[in-house]
Amino acid sequence: MALKKFIVCGDNHGDLVSGEATKKLIKFRDEWMPRGGHLLHVGDLFDMGSLRKGASDEERQRGVSEDFQAGIRFLDIGFKFLTLGNHDARLWQAAETSSNGILREHCADLVQATEREFKKRKIQWVPYHIGRYLTLPEGGPKFLHGFVAGQYPATGMHSTYGDCIFGHVHSPSTFNAKRIDGGQAFSLGCMADIEAMSYAERHPGRLKWRNGFGFGLICEKTGRWNFWNVSKDPETGDWITPMGIL
Ligand SMILES: [Fe+2]
Ligand SMILES: [Fe+2]
Repeated sequence: MALKKFIVCGDNHGDLVSGEATKKLIKFRDEWMPRGGHLLHVGDLFDMGSLRKGASDEERQRGVSEDFQAGIRFLDIGFKFLTLGNHDARLWQAAETSSNGILREHCADLVQATEREFKKRKIQWVPYHIGRYLTLPEGGPKFLHGFVAGQYPATGMHSTYGDCIFGHVHSPSTFNAKRIDGGQAFSLGCMADIEAMSYAERHPGRLKWRNGFGFGLICEKTGRWNFWNVSKDPETGDWITPMGIL
């Protein structure tokens, strides 16, 4: 039975990216998937905090350039599949609707530059839209950014999308369906530096946030798949995988 490997991550949030998480991901890719497999990104490549509705003066002063460049550098990891997230969508939205003409034109340039990068790097991508998701050529789960927060996001996402792997919630979790034919949904940890994400300081959901990514195997013939989360233990700082410490 031919099994293909895949690695999924998301939520690096531009220049808020965690250098440690990036190093762990690259090391894991090189050691576990040295002969290639699928690399997927499930959104929030950029942070675009300065474009947030209700952004503070401090957030607006950050601008978008460093955030943009850090997001593009993150693509060097080698993703071939990507879905945009709600933070990325701010850029596309500002490029179309900002009432500040200079900002609108600048964002339109960055949108064009991003789409050129995706094309140059042969990345298959989808916008942030409730009806859009990625799948692998072998089949398997849907890959999305995610639209549901709350206490049990994997349960909520499974009820809408069926088998899926998603980001957005910055917190690894699993849902196992009580069905004769199985069914699972997984949320991922984030690749951003959680301490640097000051906008969520008063958000209780942040207590569940962890750094992490995930990996899986998919059968080339049947599309049958398995998936596991990797996450950093906030107490010990160890990166825990089902095979042990990374
Ligand atoms: Fe995010
Ligand atoms: Fe998000």
